[in-house]
Amino acid sequence: MKVLAGTSNSKLCKDIARNLKLKLVNSNIKRFADGEVYVEINENIRGNSIFVIQSTSNPANDNLMELLICIDALRRSSAKNITAVIPYFGYARQDRKVVPRTAISAKLVSNLITNAGANRILSVDLHAGQIQGFFDIPVDNLFATPIFARHIKNKMKLNNLICVSPDVGGVERTRALSRRLNSSIAIIDKRRPTPGKSEVMNIVGNVKNKNCVIVDDIIDSGGTIVNAAQALKNKGAKDVYVYITHAVLSGQAVDKIEKSKIKKLITTDTIDNSKKIGRSRKIEIISLAPMISEAMKRIANSTSVSSLFK
Ligand code: R5P
Repeated sequence: MKVLAGTSNSKLCKDIARNLKLKLVNSNIKRFADGEVYVEINENIRGNSIFVIQSTSNPANDNLMELLICIDALRRSSAKNITAVIPYFGYARQDRKVVPRTAISAKLVSNLITNAGANRILSVDLHAGQIQGFFDIPVDNLFATPIFARHIKNKMKLNNLICVSPDVGGVERTRALSRRLNSSIAIIDKRRPTPGKSEVMNIVGNVKNKNCVIVDDIIDSGGTIVNAAQALKNKGAKDVYVYITHAVLSGQAVDKIEKSKIKKLITTDTIDNSKKIGRSRKIEIISLAPMISEAMKRIANSTSVSSLFK
C-alpha cells in the first residue's frame, strides 16, 4: 500500500499518511508555464496498491485534471491497482437534468476518472448516493454523520434539540443524524429561483424553543444555511448550530456566516479552506483524516468498510 498526495489538500494528505505510518510517494507535481499539469513519480511502484488523494475542489478544473494525470502516471508506472481517494467529489451537484439541455457533469467526471485508470473510488458524503452508480468500479462512500453526532453529544452537549434538513434532498442525511441523537426532525422547503440563490418557502416541523442542528453536505455561497438559520429563528428556534461536511465557502460566505443567526458552524477538512476559516469566530473544523485513513487501511486489507459505521 502506497499513498500519493495530490496538491489540493496537502495537510489532509500528510495527516492521513501519518495515521497510516506511511511516507507519501516521492513525486513531482507541478505546472508548465502555460498551466498544464506535469506529474512524475520518483520511485518504483510496480505491483503496488496505490491510493491517490485529491479533492476536486476550487480550482475544480485544475484539481480534477491533476487527479486524472496522477492516475494516468500511476497506471503507466504499472501500479497493481489504483484507488482514487476524493474526499470532496466536485461537479456532483449536476447529477441529473433539472432543466432541458444541461449536462450531467457528475456522470462525465465519473467516466473521466474511470477511463484514466482508477480501479476504485473512496469519497465522503457524495452529494447524492446514486453517484456511486455512475461508476462501473467499486465506490466506498463514507459518512461524516457519526462524527458529527459524537461532537454534538460529547462536545456541544446540546439538549432539547431537533435536526433540520435545509432542503428536501437532505432528509435522508438528517434522519441518519437524528437516529443517532434520538431527536425529531424538521424539513425546510427551499426553492432556487435562479442558480446560486435560495429562498425558504416553509418549515415542516415545530422548532419553537428548540436547539436546531442543521446538517448538509456542502456550504458554497452560504445562502442556503444563512437563510435557513434566519427562518428557524423567525419560527422561535432557540439556537441554530450547523454541521457541514464540505466547506466550499465561495465568495463572501465566511462573512455571511459571521453576520448570520448561526451560533456555531462545524465543518471538516475535506477541502483545505483553513486560511479563510481562520478569520472566523464561528467556524470550527473537525478532521476526517482518522476515518479516511481507517477506510484506506480496510480497503488495502480487504476488510469491511461499512462496519466502520455500525
Ligand atoms: C444543495 O443541494 C446542497 O446540499 C447545498 O445545500 C448547497 O450546495 C449549498 O449551496 P449554497 O451555500 O450556495 O446555498
